[in-house]
Amino acid sequence: MWIADGWDDYEVLDTSDGEKLERWGDYFLVRPDPQVLWNTPKKLKQWNNPNGHYHRSSKGGGQWDFNHLPKTWDIKYKDMMTFHLQPFSFKHTGVFPEQAVNWDWFSNKIQQAGRPIKVLNLFAYTGGATLAAAAAGASVTHVDASKGMVNWAKENAQISGLRDKPIRWLVDDCVKFVEREIRRGNQYDGIIMDPPSYGRGPKGEIWKIEEKIYPLVQLCSKILTKNPLFFLINSYTTGLQPAVLTYMIETEIRTKFGGKVTADEIGLPVSSNGLVLPCGASGRWENE
Ligand SMILES: C[S@@+](CC[C@H](N)C(=O)[O-])C[C@H]1O[C@@H](n2cnc3c(N)ncnc32)[C@H](O)[C@@H]1O
Repeated sequence: MWIADGWDDYEVLDTSDGEKLERWGDYFLVRPDPQVLWNTPKKLKQWNNPNGHYHRSSKGGGQWDFNHLPKTWDIKYKDMMTFHLQPFSFKHTGVFPEQAVNWDWFSNKIQQAGRPIKVLNLFAYTGGATLAAAAAGASVTHVDASKGMVNWAKENAQISGLRDKPIRWLVDDCVKFVEREIRRGNQYDGIIMDPPSYGRGPKGEIWKIEEKIYPLVQLCSKILTKNPLFFLINSYTTGLQPAVLTYMIETEIRTKFGGKVTADEIGLPVSSNGLVLPCGASGRWENE
């Protein structure tokens, strides 16, 4: 398993009964997690009065209970990036901490490439991967369907001191964007995608991962440069096992560019018992 154990400002303290107890900087949150099927005793006192507790409702969605939690606050990752956090719909806070294990992986590759690297980040959300790639020296194209998310990512770039880096911020449907890039002949050395299970483009384009992920990988293989550096798919959709990601990347990327494919679960360390909370899977292609 690839474990995101590089955080100082974030920590999973404990997990039990469908929930996780997390520290985000100085604040404690309790949020639902579908992977937490066990029901171990909740011994830590922070379980009792967290600063924020998201309660899932049986009708879908849910609501937050707050206890001395600021509207927004910031956390840092390795002094490289700063994230604005705010609890919002569907238990989200504005960053997926487990993605740090992928940020570190491609950042190393960009730093060691010894040549200018162009990266495309699809379903880019609040920009964690975009900022990591830019901080490592790449020029980045950031694509997300939500204008609000793109603005939030720009704010994160500003507070991370990365606002002047070569980043293109685009509000667009990812599939349509890649189809247009093929027609334009634009190419990238690195491509990152972390699609949701279900999503919508700016004009209501439906994204269903089971139906759309493989065609998107096929399209993306057409906008990689002749000597690409890396290709990354992350998925937290249950059922998209590492072997499924391996199969797709082997079929569409390694057959064309050689190189190496690896895939594994990703996870977050649980500080109170040394175990690991699983957070989905990632598939990686890299040139050798
Ligand atoms: C949950 S986030 C992915 C997390 C993110 N990659 C990260 O770790 O920082 C999913 C993102 O996909 C975007 N999205 C959903 N459907 C989309 C589509 N068809 N085209 C572009 N972006 C889409 C959403 O706006 C959301 O920001």
